[in-house]
Amino acid sequence: MARVLINFAHPALEKSRVHSQLLRVVKNIPGVTFNDLYEQYPDLDVDVAREQKLLEQHDIIFMQHPFYWYSAPAIVKQWLDLVLEHGWAYGHTGKALQGKYFGNIITAGGAAHSYEPDGHHGHTVHEFLLPFMQTAKLCNMHYTAPYVIYGVHRQDTSDIQEDAARLKQVLERLRDDKFDLTPLPGLKDLTQILQLPAQTR
Ligand SMILES: Cc1cc2nc3c(=O)[nH]c(=O)nc-3n(C[C@H](O)[C@H](O)[C@H](O)COP(=O)(O)O)c2cc1C
Repeated sequence: MARVLINFAHPALEKSRVHSQLLRVVKNIPGVTFNDLYEQYPDLDVDVAREQKLLEQHDIIFMQHPFYWYSAPAIVKQWLDLVLEHGWAYGHTGKALQGKYFGNIITAGGAAHSYEPDGHHGHTVHEFLLPFMQTAKLCNMHYTAPYVIYGVHRQDTSDIQEDAARLKQVLERLRDDKFDLTPLPGLKDLTQILQLPAQTR
């Protein structure tokens, strides 16, 4: 079994409609470790040793967060800046993360078609996530295709429940170690690698 870590970042969980529901599922999957970064570090004072130890103990690492300004909430940047130290994560002696998988689980207000190259946002979510992809590469990790839930503003409670059930399936498949996660050219979403039906919204 693969050891899966979810580093979760939402600065206002009390106002969240989507992640608050996703968490009810994600927090309770055996074999999947849930790490709430804002809960741990409300002042952004990230405990580097704790976070590095967690990374060392897992094979697949996800940053789960809402898409904010084509990127992530602030603590994700703080976490990257502090935790991925030279000599540990990268550089000649920085091999602690070698061979692990790294990816993003994202909810976006924009609909899937708005993230087509000719859509409203002008670029795909994958293009916006380039810094994460290259960061993973520099740290000797494989970047997995991201898992994106699009169009969340238009979703009602039952849509979100469906999303949560689907995310559970994805995480269980990853945990059970049945797939090669290295993204293949042309794959748009983690669900394609895991051979799950595509999101229709
Ligand atoms: C500060 C901020 C920035 C946002 N930026 C984007 C964005 O760049 N693209 C997008 O599709 N949605 C954007 N959104 C919408 C959020 O992604 C959406 O509200 C969130 O995924 C919903 O999850 P929640 O109910 O758990 O908060 C933004 C929302 C906020 C508050």
